[in-house]
Amino acid sequence: MSKNESQELCLITGGASGIGEACARELFSRGYEIAIADKNPKGEKIASELSGKFFPLDVSESTEIDALAEAISNSGNFIHTLINCAGIIQQPLPPEELSLKTWDDIVRIDQRGTYYCSVAFAREMIKRGRGNIVNIASITAMRSVPLHAYAPAKAAVVSMTECLAAEWGRHGVRVNAVSPGHTLTPALQSAISAGERDIKLLEENALGRMVNPEEVAKAVAFLVGDESSAITGVNLPVDCGWLVAGSWHTYGGLR
Ligand SMILES: NC(=O)c1ccc[n+]([C@@H]2O[C@H](COP(=O)([O-])OP(=O)(O)OC[C@H]3O[C@@H](n4cnc5c(N)ncnc54)[C@H](O)[C@@H]3O)[C@@H](O)[C@H]2O)c1
Repeated sequence: MSKNESQELCLITGGASGIGEACARELFSRGYEIAIADKNPKGEKIASELSGKFFPLDVSESTEIDALAEAISNSGNFIHTLINCAGIIQQPLPPEELSLKTWDDIVRIDQRGTYYCSVAFAREMIKRGRGNIVNIASITAMRSVPLHAYAPAKAAVVSMTECLAAEWGRHGVRVNAVSPGHTLTPALQSAISAGERDIKLLEENALGRMVNPEEVAKAVAFLVGDESSAITGVNLPVDCGWLVAGSWHTYGGLR
């Protein structure tokens, strides 16, 4: 491709690690042109392995998001697919011990960052009458858990997925969410190493194991591909059956 030829890109925020990296690799293997936006410079190496582009971005800064969307649009490139995966997790603390700073950080990155990236990149999708957004939510959006900032922020991601899907559907833009269960990524691994999560308990679901990042990526690929052309506004759990298994405790647990 010549330098001046415009490209149609799939942009993955948080693509420098874990689920985002797996999404970048899976979508690349399916023929998408990849762009990674992350505050971790490791994304540059992954992007170059995938013959893609890397953009340094902090999704908690709306001015950075605006500047990136404008720069991409001015370069003639088009983000036809956006995967909102940048996110941070939290310790399972009682609210009395959870600092407001942590709460604000999580809301600013996981919730506001997802919303504002969607808005900034949807502008061009709306102009062109086509686009696809997948938000990475979480199973914790759908159950009560001791993650008093993270779970409500992810519930907001599920809700905004529905609202934006209805808002932009007539413009040819689909918006869906994937809710991973416990997925062994660098983020979860460091929580396990810090004693904040217990592997045995994380494997308590119908299938009796954790999710692989690649399994989440395959669900994301389904939602951005033509196989799901009539699907918008859904939230697809990829959780090894954590959501269906939890209530079995009352009856003595899974058999
Ligand atoms: N791992 C799990 O069990 C699990 C379960 C459900 C949902 N999720 C969600 O999946 C997403 C990815 O998580 P992961 O486990 O792969 O974590 P990870 O830490 O391996 O990857 C997260 C990526 O997001 C980037 N990021 C963080 N803050 C950012 C910011 N302000 N701006 C730009 N980039 C930023 C990080 O640099 C990193 O590359 C998150 O939204 C997380 O909430 C993870």
